[in-house]
Amino acid sequence: MKKYYLTAAAAIFLTGCGAEDQSDVNENQNNNMSEEEPENNEADNVQEENDEEAEVNDDSSEEEESQAAVIAHRGASGHAPEQTMPALEKAIEMNADWLELDIQMTSDGELVAFHDDEIDRTTDGEGEIGDHTLDELKELDAGSWFNEEYPDQADESFEGVEILTLEEIFEEFGDSENYYIETKSTYLNEDMEEPMVELIEEYGFDESGNIIIQSFHQDSLEEIKELNDSIPLVQLLWWEVDEETGEMEEWLDITPAPDDMTEEDFAEIAEYADGMGLHLEYYDGTEVIDESFVQTARDEGFEVHVYTINEEEDMDRLLDWGVTGLFTDYPDRMQNVLEERE
Ligand code: G3P
Ligand code: CA
Repeated sequence: MKKYYLTAAAAIFLTGCGAEDQSDVNENQNNNMSEEEPENNEADNVQEENDEEAEVNDDSSEEEESQAAVIAHRGASGHAPEQTMPALEKAIEMNADWLELDIQMTSDGELVAFHDDEIDRTTDGEGEIGDHTLDELKELDAGSWFNEEYPDQADESFEGVEILTLEEIFEEFGDSENYYIETKSTYLNEDMEEPMVELIEEYGFDESGNIIIQSFHQDSLEEIKELNDSIPLVQLLWWEVDEETGEMEEWLDITPAPDDMTEEDFAEIAEYADGMGLHLEYYDGTEVIDESFVQTARDEGFEVHVYTINEEEDMDRLLDWGVTGLFTDYPDRMQNVLEERE
């Protein structure tokens, strides 16, 4: 099982996301504890030796923690049709740490992995996803669009691939994989939180640490926290420039502009969320966050994940800034960058 050890409150859920064994962590912690409190009659040089050893342990854990999480955005969606089985399988082949999925509801209340509110872009159907039953959606071809859009990456096997339910994905990969799921467009997908949490609990992923829930919608995250407070939550943020005022504003008014955020603003999010999902650039390429903001968010105790980063140069720069994870359509590129930094 690929495992990410969580502490419910601190939710250090993505740092140290390499395959670290919990027994090693416990061992180190126990060692450190015993080293911090030696018997009173021990010689000073023994204390010094222990202090040095503890320092080495601290350094190694810092090193492990510097490995950021590779979050496969909609699967390895740069290589295969987003949110479909080929994209998930490629992400797994590329050793992604997390499979990122957008979740919406069908008209008959099923949870499916799908990004857009309309099905037109990525299937041969049309209209809103929430106006279709699961049976209707299952008839659609969710793969051929990719071959047409990206002929260089085209693959006959993508033709006719299906939209997947969240349950099918859990069933297929179980606790061998980690799922970073988003409650999408909650103004359309009303009441998706309860069945989502029930499904997660059915699979035991709330206990096992295989799940993170993210959302742009604060009330959705707060509702999930009320339903089950052991699931790590990430508040997604999107800042944009208001055309009338020229000011940078958060899309759903969750926070002020990054530069104007106060300790109170961070504390408000910390009441329910463990991490922040941020974007690097506005549409015109203007960067909305910088190293100092990332550091502040880290100092305030948040995991910091940035979406959606596909260029290796940006990945490297953001890792230098101290982010703890990156959403990417190309998990293979991020693996290259991480390898080069080792
Ligand atoms: O979930 C992080 C990122 O995926 C948010 O953007 O539109 O791709 O869901 P979007
Ligand atoms: Ca998403």
